[in-house]
Amino acid sequence: MRKKIVAGNWKMNQTLSEGKNLVEGILAGLPALNESKEVVICPPFVHLSQTAAQLDEYEHIYLGAQNCSSEASGAYTGEVSAQMLQSTGTHYVIIGHSERREYFNEDDALLARKVEQALATDMKVIFCCGESLEIRDSNAQNEWVGKQLKSALFHLGDLLMQRIVIAYEPIWAIGTGRTASAAQAQEMHAYIRHVIASQYNPVLADNMTILYGGSAKPSNAAELFACPDVDGGLIGGASLKAEDFLGIINAMMAS
Ligand code: PGA
Repeated sequence: MRKKIVAGNWKMNQTLSEGKNLVEGILAGLPALNESKEVVICPPFVHLSQTAAQLDEYEHIYLGAQNCSSEASGAYTGEVSAQMLQSTGTHYVIIGHSERREYFNEDDALLARKVEQALATDMKVIFCCGESLEIRDSNAQNEWVGKQLKSALFHLGDLLMQRIVIAYEPIWAIGTGRTASAAQAQEMHAYIRHVIASQYNPVLADNMTILYGGSAKPSNAAELFACPDVDGGLIGGASLKAEDFLGIINAMMAS
């Protein structure tokens, strides 16, 4: 069964008290979710325990982290392991966000190790991929995204691959206000599903959740989510206002 998911990526925003208020606002307006329509909130690490406690009594709304270490434990000052994340009640971890790739030099080999660490716990991974404007302009986006998936994920067996959610986030659409058109999103999502079907099998590919990310907002979410291969969104800026995030969640519920 393919799940639809709206996940909020707060990035490096919100103090502890601001985060608490934001989650309260989201919970106050949350529609009735179910097994096939989930919400994930990905605050910074320092919020995880607090947010976990707030979400405790709610169903189908999960906690996610924005990163994890490529190492299991030990002398890695400043790092946070997958196991530590899981111990806070975290269910999902975002790996491979373009900001991590670009500003923190995270390459495919490192990302593959992070994916392995996360999957060694019971958590699921939201794996981000997406091309720059330069690559899109030279029409090499499919090749680029295919290579990102292959390098970081395709060593996984079927069972582990079933714990991956893909987020397609064209870099030129992140935080820019310039959303990919529904047709561009659908075309890439269908391509990603095709690549996964060829590498694994059509059933696994059909069940895989593929999210769109990049300037998604209440006003464009319905159109994006209406695409047959777009199974929800990874939301940055619009996840920082309860009203906007709820608008996007409601668009998923209606899709
Ligand atoms: P945005 O960010 O919605 O602010 O464009 C999306 C993301 O980076 O996950």
